[in-house]
Formats: sequence, structure tokens, C-alpha cells
Amino acid sequence: MYSRIAGTGSHLPEKILTNADIEKLVDTSDEWIRTRTGISERHVVADGETTADLAEHASRKALAAAGVEPGEVDLICVATATPDLVFPNVGTLLQDRLDIHGCPAFSLEAACAGFAYALGVADKFVRLGEAKCALVVGADTLTRIVDWSDRGTCVLFADGAGAVVLKPASEPGIISTHLHADGRYKDLLQYPDGPSRGFHLMREGKAGVRMKGNEVYKIAVNKLGQLVTETLEANGITKDQIDWLIPHQANIRIIEAIAKRLDMPMERVIVTIATHGNTSAASVPLALDTGVRDGRIKRGQLLLLEAFGGGFTWGSALIRY
Ligand code: COA
Repeated sequence: MYSRIAGTGSHLPEKILTNADIEKLVDTSDEWIRTRTGISERHVVADGETTADLAEHASRKALAAAGVEPGEVDLICVATATPDLVFPNVGTLLQDRLDIHGCPAFSLEAACAGFAYALGVADKFVRLGEAKCALVVGADTLTRIVDWSDRGTCVLFADGAGAVVLKPASEPGIISTHLHADGRYKDLLQYPDGPSRGFHLMREGKAGVRMKGNEVYKIAVNKLGQLVTETLEANGITKDQIDWLIPHQANIRIIEAIAKRLDMPMERVIVTIATHGNTSAASVPLALDTGVRDGRIKRGQLLLLEAFGGGFTWGSALIRY
């Protein structure tokens, strides 16, 4: 038994923040942001708009694409680092909005690699016969926790959600997932506060995403390079067999480095960073849904998804779409 992607969906908040808008907030320039990151604009949540709102929109589109009624869903797994509440978890909030009750619903947190983790977990449920219709979501509102006075981070992050519906299949589908983490790197990229620390920094207005960008960059390229090789080798697949690389959208230069490692021309890479920015756990499913809906990604093609985030955490999935 395997799982396969029956449908995809995504959602971006309406409000757009351009590089010119950010020039008014910090000492930066449109030129610097575009050349160093590949980002021109990003979507950000409006007042009162939350991660669960974005997750609900993306989920409803994925369910419609899969031809599935909400009532058929028997597992909800949401990857997010920016939940509406400490508890109940976003999976549970989403379950209630879809008016379905009783099935397991949870969130997991693996920062920007969250969707790879959620896909890996949900795939196991389906393979083991414990779920017949799994809703897997990556949703984040990182602009809520960014330090808007830090030009090294505030230009990068954005908000959004992406979702897939997984159903059982006799052939893959999800061929394999590969998940990794190394907590030794916890200080290089973090939001340095939380409930168990009493939210002291947040109360004093001293919280906000902290990142040593340069070091993150080098390790991301190194780990993702190893990860794509591991994914291909585990399945006896050669580089030229991959139809589409669907990378985490953190920096166009990181994306290009991994494409180069795979000898893939950029025409076979789904790139959304220019208008999406880094939407954290939403980035990969947003890119996947973009490629599916604009007709580039077709049934039967071989997809390689990869992502890297705070922790560090990193993960990939090889998928026959
Ligand atoms: N506008 C203008 N200048 C900026 C800037 C901005 N938004 N942000 C940083 N700078 C400056 C720095 O202060 C530094 O100035 P200095 O040389 O006078 O000290 C200079 O630009 C170079 O900084 P550096 O950090 O070395 O730049 P970089 O080429 O590494 O690019 C990132 C910075 C953040 C774009 C890049 O490191 C990156 O993308 N890292 C990975 C981030 C990532 O993927 N994070 C998420 C993982 S999920």
C-alpha cells in the first residue's frame, strides 16, 4: 500500500508588501533584495487574519481538486511554526472549520521543513491503512513574528498556506520521504521565546526571528545537496529522471545551487520566490500547487521536493504525481 496525491490547493493573503514598501521600514533597497534573495514582493496577513484562515482556504481548494468531501477526511496534519493558539492546535481548529469531528488532527513544528515532515508522517498513516483520506497542510504567518527593524530577516519572510490530499494507492505516489534534524544549529535561526520561557522577550518587545544568514546559507546548500543525492540513491534514480524540482523558496541562490547539483535547467524548477518570498512550511506545497494549476506538473511525472529550516530541520520527498 502506498499513498498518492489526489489533489492540491494553496492560498495567499490578499495584502502585498513590495520591496519598495520595505524600503520605507528599514535601510535596504529593492535592488539589494532582488539580487541577494530573488524576492520582489510577498503576501502578508491583514489584521485579524491567522494561520488557520490561510490553512482553511488552501484545504478547501485541495479537497475540491481531489473531488473529496470534507466528511471523508480521516486525518489532518498541519505543519506550522506560527499557530493561532498554543492550544488547541491548528489541525483541530481546521477540523472544526471543515465541520468534521473525531478524526485525529494535529500540528507539527519543523519550521520551513515542516511540510516535508507532515507529508512523511501522513504518508505512514496511509501506508499502514490507518488513514484513507489525509489532509496535509503547510501554513505559516511568519510576518507576525519577524522583527520589522531587522533588515537581515524582515525582507525574507512572508505568509501563505498549501495543502494536499493523500489517498491510498496500489502504486506510489509518495515513493519515499527523507527527514533529518540537527539541534546543534539551534542558535543560527530561531525565534527566541515561547510559552515555557514565559514569553518574557515578547512582553518586552525584544523577540523576533533571529538569523545568522550567511551561516544558514552555507549549511542549507550543503545539507540540501547531500539530501537530494540521498533521495536519488535510496531509490536508484538518476538525476535526469526527475521531471520537476520543487524546492523550499528561501533564496533564489540556494535554489539555483541545488538545481546545479542535479544538473537541472531552471526551466524544470518551480520557482515562486519572486512573488511569494519565504512562506516557511507553506513554501513547498504553494510551489507544488502553482506548478499543478498552471499545467506544468502533469500526472505521472517524477517530482523531487526539498526543504530546509530552523533547528536545523531538512527533508525531501520523491513523488510520482
Ligand atoms: N538590505 C541591505 N543590506 C543588507 C540587508 C538588506 N536587507 N541585509 C543585510 N544587509 C547587509 C549586511 O549588513 C552586510 O553589510 P556589511 O557587509 O556592511 O556588514 C551585507 O549586506 C552582507 O550581508 P550578508 O549577511 O553577508 O549577506 P548575504 O549575501 O549572505 O545575504 C541573506 C543575506 C539573508 C539574503 C542570505 O545570507 C541568505 O539568504 N541566507 C539564508 C537564509 C535562509 O535561507 N533562511 C531561511 C532558511 S529556512
